[in-house]
Amino acid sequence: MNLCAAARLRINLATLCILHPFKNELSRYMSVSSYQVQQTKFQLEHRSGVFAPSAHGRFYAEHIAISATDSVIDIGCGSGILSVYAALQGAQVVATDISAEAVALTQHNGGLNNVAIEGRVGGFFGDYQQQFDVILANLPQEIVPSAHALELGAGAAEIDGGQRGNDLLVELLQLAPQYMHSNSRLILPLHTLSDYQHSLKVAMQIFDVRLIAIGDLAAKDFVKQHLDFYLSFARQGTIRLFEQDENWFTNVYVIELRRKSG
Ligand SMILES: C[S@@+](CC[C@H](N)C(=O)[O-])C[C@H]1O[C@@H](n2cnc3c(N)ncnc32)[C@H](O)[C@@H]1O
Repeated sequence: MNLCAAARLRINLATLCILHPFKNELSRYMSVSSYQVQQTKFQLEHRSGVFAPSAHGRFYAEHIAISATDSVIDIGCGSGILSVYAALQGAQVVATDISAEAVALTQHNGGLNNVAIEGRVGGFFGDYQQQFDVILANLPQEIVPSAHALELGAGAAEIDGGQRGNDLLVELLQLAPQYMHSNSRLILPLHTLSDYQHSLKVAMQIFDVRLIAIGDLAAKDFVKQHLDFYLSFARQGTIRLFEQDENWFTNVYVIELRRKSG
């Protein structure tokens, strides 16, 4: 190695040492991603241990209508894709999640995009008592095989919707009316990796239901890894999973629920 190369190596090593104390900040910076929902562009930071937006959540986000006068609650906010999008429309947004890290990240991501988001740690509506114009909730809504839940550990709480995949959704459907006035809208995704027909029946008993969108989405990797498990539910008609051109898909239905008229 000549003298010049040795000097360059020393400088590079010194730079690394200087950066070392900041490496957490650096890796956080590097995990910021750009998103576009409808016409709105924004950025979200990702942190390990907090659910990052999936194709399912992004499809849902593409089909929610929010106006600047709306008060909105985002239940199960994760990294905050729905909260940030709603706040950027000018809405007043509060976010809840059972994960304190998720609530903190959603608020941080609001700041990253120059909007304020109020947050509370807690299940469903947390300790909020008021009525909201719009209720959004992309709650865990999948049937998850126990082997995969074990692999995920605490992370299973981000996707596992219980035995029929819709336990949390049904609980929300029953809770929501007390947080709604006569014009409130509860906008939900129905994932067909859960007993979505049961969810729909419960929804129709309580609300007037309007179908907004249907999406075909590529099955997640864990579904393909446990295909026999899921196909047995599909054969019983509990879930919908289908093959097209040798690829597996599920559906997401986006529905809007209002208090029954009359
Ligand atoms: C599928 S992730 C969705 C995150 C985000 N809304 C999105 O669309 O990317 C579900 C989130 O719901 C949270 N969660 C699970 N059970 C909950 C409950 N009972 N009340 C509120 N949040 C819950 C999880 O911690 C997780 O952050």
